[in-house]
Amino acid sequence: MSGASGMGEEKTILITGANGLVGHRACEYLRKITPWKIIGTSRREGAHVDLIANLTDISDVDRIRTTIHPDIIIHTAAISRTDVCEQEQKLCYDTNVTATANLCKVFPEAKFIFFSTYAVYDTPEGRCDEECETRASNYYIQTKLDAEEHVQKMAEYVIVRPSVIFGYVEHLQDSKNYFMQLLANIRMKKVMQSPKDQYFNPIHVDIIVESLKRIIEREVCGTFNVGSNESISKFEFNRQILEKFGFDSEYLEGIDSKHLTVKRPAIGTISSAKIQRELLYEIPPLEKMIDTLYLTSSEEVKRYLADSR
Ligand SMILES: NC(=O)c1ccc[n+]([C@@H]2O[C@H](COP(=O)([O-])OP(=O)(O)OC[C@H]3O[C@@H](n4cnc5c(N)ncnc54)[C@H](OP(=O)(O)O)[C@@H]3O)[C@@H](O)[C@H]2O)c1
Repeated sequence: MSGASGMGEEKTILITGANGLVGHRACEYLRKITPWKIIGTSRREGAHVDLIANLTDISDVDRIRTTIHPDIIIHTAAISRTDVCEQEQKLCYDTNVTATANLCKVFPEAKFIFFSTYAVYDTPEGRCDEECETRASNYYIQTKLDAEEHVQKMAEYVIVRPSVIFGYVEHLQDSKNYFMQLLANIRMKKVMQSPKDQYFNPIHVDIIVESLKRIIEREVCGTFNVGSNESISKFEFNRQILEKFGFDSEYLEGIDSKHLTVKRPAIGTISSAKIQRELLYEIPPLEKMIDTLYLTSSEEVKRYLADSR
């Protein structure tokens, strides 16, 4: 790892998936607190979208290059829903692998920060560090591993393997990210089935984007897990969120993961010691991250739920 670079240093950063949970928040946050030139791209217009491009089409990626020469690419765009990836494998491959390969090919000199997933590990013990063996238990994970191979050929790269990311973004109300899905079920008064035997390390989106800022400042390279330091079952995590927001716990039913259609590692827990060591940064306790979720979204959440009545 090299030392921290000056914040004042001029950098151009291309962020893909600028309408998504991470991309949107990364654009918003880095624009606000750094002097870096942030360019957001997505397939559709949005508050942080400067360039509209379909990254699966290399001519669109070439067109981006005629406009900007980024020092750094933060590549978050993906089909991140495992069920969609099972059903539409070509779309999933094109979006998760071909688009990544296109960016690597067109911008070989850029530092490439790629969003993979914690689910690449599949060991019975869990608490995987970055040296743990990887294995794809579903097609989405396979595409992430394939994309990582392209990224690993870049001169400078960071592969981020995050656990489940939670956060509220107003325009993503219809999306299937973890928290929005929970809210959508509550709005429809639908009981959410949640495995009691699947453990993970959920992390708030603001901690992800703070980590990105530090990754850039400290000029680190390599592969990094990032998730909460506590391991928690999906059922218990959902229960804590319901409690924090004062929602009825009847919306939640604990189940055994053998009833789920898309397979995931049962013990999907990771160790995020490496990133915290290299960034000199301690990921806050999960309770604090749930507090942040509540403080930053409770008013919008109330409006969202009230709208449907
Ligand atoms: N959220 C999680 O819990 C989690 C956990 C582990 C890993 N990850 C990974 O982290 C990254 C960010 O996740 P996220 O939750 O922010 O994802 P997200 O909300 O689903 O956003 C992904 C964005 O990619 C864009 N996109 C899709 N296909 C595209 C294409 N062909 N060309 C250009 N843009 C395209 C979509 O925007 P448009 O439709 O506007 O183009 C979408 O907003 C993803 O790579 C995901 O796989 C996420």
